[in-house]
Amino acid sequence: MTSYKELGLVNTKDLFKKAISGGYALPAYNFNNMEQMQAIIQACVETKSPVILQVSAGARKYANQNILKNMARGAVEYAHELGYDIPIVLHLDHGDSFEICKDCIETGFSSVMIDGSHLPYDENVALTKKVCEHAHSQKDYVTVEGELGVLAGVEDDVSAEHSHYTQPSEVIDFVNKTKVDSLAISIGTSHGRAKFKPEQCTRDANGILIPPPLRFDILEEIEKQIPGFPIVLHGSSSVPIEYVHIIEKFGGKLSDSVGIPEEQLRKAAKSAVCKINIDSDGRLAMTAMIRKVFSEKPDEFDPRKYLGPARDELKKLYSHKNKNVLGSAGQA
Ligand code: G3H
Ligand code: 13P
Ligand code: ZN
Repeated sequence: MTSYKELGLVNTKDLFKKAISGGYALPAYNFNNMEQMQAIIQACVETKSPVILQVSAGARKYANQNILKNMARGAVEYAHELGYDIPIVLHLDHGDSFEICKDCIETGFSSVMIDGSHLPYDENVALTKKVCEHAHSQKDYVTVEGELGVLAGVEDDVSAEHSHYTQPSEVIDFVNKTKVDSLAISIGTSHGRAKFKPEQCTRDANGILIPPPLRFDILEEIEKQIPGFPIVLHGSSSVPIEYVHIIEKFGGKLSDSVGIPEEQLRKAAKSAVCKINIDSDGRLAMTAMIRKVFSEKPDEFDPRKYLGPARDELKKLYSHKNKNVLGSAGQA
């Protein structure tokens, strides 16, 4: 059993309190490999932003949970070496069972998500409560994120055909019964790079898809029910069209890509939304740069020569998010 404090990590409790009162959201960036971790830490140190490093089930399978834990320990030391100690959370993204959450807590995660959103309400309550009881009774309190409402979209291990918005009438009961530390809600975001079907969107003069707005009315209603309670938005990539164009220019095919506009995320970050999950945008940034190098330098075969530019672009993207979208820059 490793406590996250031994790794130099923190839980989300105080960070969320500060984010809500300060009107910004913490970045929650997924990572699976060293380059992603380095880019996240470089960007967050440069912008003096606290950060949540997220590990999905897919990441655990791909990279090994212990390696990721030690990369988080390395991230703490790396930030220090870069000259500024930022608060770093190691968070399990979309945990789907009590056992996975328990295992991650024993490994040294400081925060876990138990995603019972696909279960009938009472089962979601029971599972989330069980995880909270376990996480909160640790010597060092581990924070827990629950979810109400189902996001549409497709990821490797996270999929839901249809979204169901969070019902504001359920949130007080859920929070009181489970004792979760934060609540992920569904107000129109979804996972992946194609967040809406083209028929749900309009098009601008250049034929670019314009998505329907997020359901801020539902968010406001939720905030009325549980004032000041930490809210989380999943599926919050903006799917920058520049990356889609680079990927397509160099042979990729990403038709009908559409994300959540940055202005809407800025607006959400100013509310009780205090954690915003972003993964797909990082994938797009890396893929764009790797495709570009492969196409422009066909004789290149040193992985550092394409992973390096991908890492640099990723850092640029995350710095931009912290400064201009989430408002977390300068808050560490
Ligand atoms: O919420 C989903 C994240 O983007 C993680 O995706 O399961 O493919 O690692 P993944
Ligand atoms: P995106 O696919 O929009 O990046 O969402 C990531 C996410 O919600 C991780 O939990
Ligand atoms: Zn998610």
